[in-house]
Amino acid sequence: MTRRAYNFNAGPAALPLEVLQQAQETFVDYNGIGMSLMEISHRSKEYEALNAETASLLLELLGIQSGYQVLFLGGGASMQFAQIPLNFLKPGTVGSYIITGSFSEKAYQEAQIVGEASIAASNKEGKWRSLPKASEIVIDPKSSYVHMTTNNTIEGSQWSDIPDTGGIPLIGDMTSGILSRPIDASKFGMIYAGAQKNLGPSGVTVAVIRDDLLAEEPKHLPVMLRYTTHAKNQSLYNTPPVHSIYMVNLVLKWVKEQGGVEAMEKRNVEKSKLLYDVIDASGGFYSGNIDADSRSIMNVTFRLPSEELEKQFVKESKDHNFVGLAGHRSVGGIRASAYNAVPHEACQALAEFMKDFQQRNS
Ligand SMILES: Cc1ncc(COP(=O)(O)O)c(C=O)c1O
Repeated sequence: MTRRAYNFNAGPAALPLEVLQQAQETFVDYNGIGMSLMEISHRSKEYEALNAETASLLLELLGIQSGYQVLFLGGGASMQFAQIPLNFLKPGTVGSYIITGSFSEKAYQEAQIVGEASIAASNKEGKWRSLPKASEIVIDPKSSYVHMTTNNTIEGSQWSDIPDTGGIPLIGDMTSGILSRPIDASKFGMIYAGAQKNLGPSGVTVAVIRDDLLAEEPKHLPVMLRYTTHAKNQSLYNTPPVHSIYMVNLVLKWVKEQGGVEAMEKRNVEKSKLLYDVIDASGGFYSGNIDADSRSIMNVTFRLPSEELEKQFVKESKDHNFVGLAGHRSVGGIRASAYNAVPHEACQALAEFMKDFQQRNS
């Protein structure tokens, strides 16, 4: 049997074992063609079928029947921080940003380079502990879009209610939360996600864009930077990251087989609860970074009584087959990223390790 680590990496992150095994089987000979998928043209019928199937599976799992295009893009989610204002921020308008963590802050900073950007809400002063309430979000009526991060990977928070933007297109960075729970996609003009957490390996970013936002071609932009270019060409304007898209295809099929996003949510709630319960019952030994009503079911973040103990926790965890538990270098502490592919058993083992560690160190 393959030895698998308890993989709590934040991204690139755990992939389903079944998906890795399937990819291994087809690595050298894809569907009997005598070559791997990486060795054939992206204009071949084999690849074109895969490309179309992957796009339609994603729409299906997001609960979208029509009115949106799926794009497979390069440059990571970070590229979208720039491409969004380049495509949508028109002179005389502003890009509005709800800032709930360092990635949304980066998105805002990129927009400032392109044009005028404003902050609709920010919880930075409260150290990101709880997400802004609806009444705290003030959207400039001149906004051409509102940008938010639905799950904050580094901080460990997630939105439960999607803010009402009063008809202004809402753009959601769902890099660390896509397909982790049902979300009303119709509330968004655009959804995007780097693949390397819940969708597959790094190398491709998916963008799902509503048709009306693709109506006008931004002719002032280089062709590759226009969303319309990729939409008109089914993401085949240039050579796409074929292997990454293949892996996304396998992961989407896996999600569907598991019962779709509803089943994912049920599992993720149970998995994260195992860890949050230990934190809450620890009498303060473990303290969560995020208030209970804003906690993420993907990234569980917490501190220990001292940095020494945190270092020791990480060190000992490695000896117990756990990987990736050190918090992001900007915040420290501990972060357990329990994405869709992280099994229940890994969270159970971590919960036990946490209880044992506390007993030995308090
Ligand atoms: C919410 C969020 N947005 C953006 C990014 C940046 O993604 P990339 O490294 O693909 O540019 C990340 C990466 O972790 C993320 O978690």
